[in-house]
Formats: sequence, structure tokens, C-alpha cells
Amino acid sequence: MTAGAKSEEGPGGVLGWVENRLHLAPFIGALLHVRIPANAKTFYLGGITLFLFGIQVVTGTLLALYYSPTPEAAYESVLSITSDVQFGWLIRSVHHWAANLMLLFLVLHLLRIFVQAAYKYPREITWIVGGGLLLITIGFGFTGYLLPWDQRAYWATVVGTEIAGDVPVIGSSLLLLLRGGAEVSEATLARFFGIHVLVLPLLLGGLVALHLLFVHQQGLANPSRAEARPGRVTAPQPPDKLKPFFPDYILDEVIAWYAVLAGLVILASLFPAGLEPKADPLVTPEHIKPEWYFLAVYQLLKLVPETVGVVAPVALVMIIVLLPLLDRNEEIRPRRRPIALGLALVLLVAMAVLTYFGGRV
Ligand code: HEM
Repeated sequence: MTAGAKSEEGPGGVLGWVENRLHLAPFIGALLHVRIPANAKTFYLGGITLFLFGIQVVTGTLLALYYSPTPEAAYESVLSITSDVQFGWLIRSVHHWAANLMLLFLVLHLLRIFVQAAYKYPREITWIVGGGLLLITIGFGFTGYLLPWDQRAYWATVVGTEIAGDVPVIGSSLLLLLRGGAEVSEATLARFFGIHVLVLPLLLGGLVALHLLFVHQQGLANPSRAEARPGRVTAPQPPDKLKPFFPDYILDEVIAWYAVLAGLVILASLFPAGLEPKADPLVTPEHIKPEWYFLAVYQLLKLVPETVGVVAPVALVMIIVLLPLLDRNEEIRPRRRPIALGLALVLLVAMAVLTYFGGRV
């Protein structure tokens, strides 16, 4: 075989050996060699969320090697991870901070798409799948919080599951399903552990794959031009300016991941994840504090009747998930969407105020 013939046939060596057997080149080419609008501004937020999920899978697997999901041993196993296992404290703290950052970047990703109206035709299903990802990520936070089995974890779960129990119609069944009995107990810990390490990772992994497949099929949105709808006659437009996804966009994305990783290690080292005294079902602490992303709901419940405090957040989540079906305005320019952006701003300010006052206890 001549050198020229070899280059036409693809790579040699190990890659060539694999390629001759699996013929993956067209598949990888279809995934990577796409072109995206030159003016697409994602701020790498979706990719950073994906990266943080990867960090959670790696650090979570390492933690699971030493963690014991029973009320007798859970607290001691976390203590041992923190003080006996080499770099255990760092892995645990990175897991703690990556969980918080994942939710933060996910919300920023959602806001970017909202402001650019990238949830409108043809990306409605991509957004709805994203809504599912938001719910699963919150579920990770809720179930993971109990695992250290300290006072804070235990009592926040007592309150959190009580709130779930107030959901109209399905509340009492939901409470029983979550707790595995009348109280937060061994059964609750076993359930939360199983959901946290098996059910939610599988769900999130599957939905993320679907989400990325849809993004790949549709291409990224061009924030300065609404997508042409089928059957509509519109004035002819010059073609979009495009740039390569690989390597140009991917390289910037990896640089963003690298910066996030550096920030993560700095945060985990300077502010390691703490641990309160072991859970005691007989001693109610003076102040029960949920994770920061539940503070707004927690504060709202102090101000309004219970049913309103539970129904309002559920309704809000439904509105967010189904937004593309509710918002029928075809306009994508932010200045021409004052109602949608105004309502979102009011909501963000209200949530920030509630979170602030909820966190002051
Ligand atoms: C685990 C959570 C999520 C991951 C890993 C993820 C990942 C991504 C990635 C990598 C992209 C490509 C563009 C970018 O990097 O920004 C993207 C696009 C998109 N995502 Fe997500 N996403 C998540 C959650 C969400 C949520 C919560 C929503 C909305 C409710 C959403 C809606 C969308 C839409 C509509 C696009 C297309 C945007 C465009 O074409 O400009 N995603 N996502």
C-alpha cells in the first residue's frame, strides 16, 4: 500500500485498527464537524453544566466507595472520609461545591436561553427536556442533603418532606413514598441513597444525551434572527455567517471548563464542606436551614397559608417547563418582549428577596 493510499483510507496505528473494525469515522464526523452561527452566544453555560455533572459522577463514585447508607454508620463514614481517607476531604468538598455550581450554571444557562428566546420554534422540545433536567438536578440536591446524617441534614429533610406532604391531592402519598414510613428513618436514608446514586444519575444521563442530540439536530440558535417557520412566505435573507464547532468552539469550551475546575478546587480548599453533630431525632435544633435554593420556598411558607406556599412553587415550575407552549409571541428581540422579560425580572427579584430573608435565620 502506498503512503497516499493509506491517508485516503484513514488513520493508521491503534485508531486505524479500531476504525477498520467499527467504522466510527462518519459518526464522529457527523457529531463534531458541524458549523454554528458565528454570532451564537452561549457563554459556554450548558457545556459548563455538563462538565460539572461529569465532576459529580467522578467524585460521587469515589465517595460511594467509603460511604455507608445506614443511620448507625452514615455519619461516622462521612467523618472518616473527611479525616482518615487520603484527599477524602477534598473529594467531598469538590462534590459539595460542584453540586451548588451545577445548579447555578444551569439557572444561568436557562436565563441565557430565555433572554435570547432560543426556546421558541423549533427548540420547544429541547427546552422541555431541559426543564426535566432542572427538576432532576434539584432532586439531586434534596436527596444528597440527607446523606451525611447530621442534625442539619436530618431536620432539613423532616421539614422538606413535610412540605412535599402539603402538595394538594398527592401530598400524603408523596410523603410516604419519600420517607418510606411515617418518620424520617433508616428507610428514608436507604431510599434517598438509592435515588441519589442510581435513579437520578441514570435519568439525568439519559435526558442529557437526548438534550444534546436535539441541540445537535437543530444547531445553535442565531440570537439575531428568528427561525423561518414552514409554510410562511418571508423576504429572502442572506445566509447565516457560520463558524466550525470543532475545533474552534470546543477549544474555547475546554478553556472555560479548565477555569471552572480551578475555581472549584479553590472554593473546596478554602471552604471545605462542614459537618454538624450526628442526627438526633429527639433534639430539634433552634434553626432549621435548607440548602440556599430552597430558601425562597421556605421563607414563602412563613408568609402565606401552607397551600399557597406549596402550590405557588409547583405552578411556577410547571410554567417554566411549559413556557414554549404558553408564550406564543414569535418575537425574539429582547426589546420587543417587555412583558416576558419584565415578568422574569420581577420573579428573579422576588426570589432573591425571599432567599435573602430565608437565609437570615
Ligand atoms: C443538566 C442540565 C443541562 C445541560 C448539561 C445542558 C446542556 C446544554 C448544552 C451543552 C447546550 C449547547 C449550548 C450551550 O452550551 O449553551 C444546550 C442548549 C440548550 N439547552 Fe440545555 N442543558 C441543561 C439544562 C437545560 C435547561 C434547564 C433548559 C431549559 C429549561 C435547557 C434548554 C436548552 C435549549 C433550548 C438549548 C438550545 C439553545 C440554543 O440553540 O441556543 N437546558 N444545553
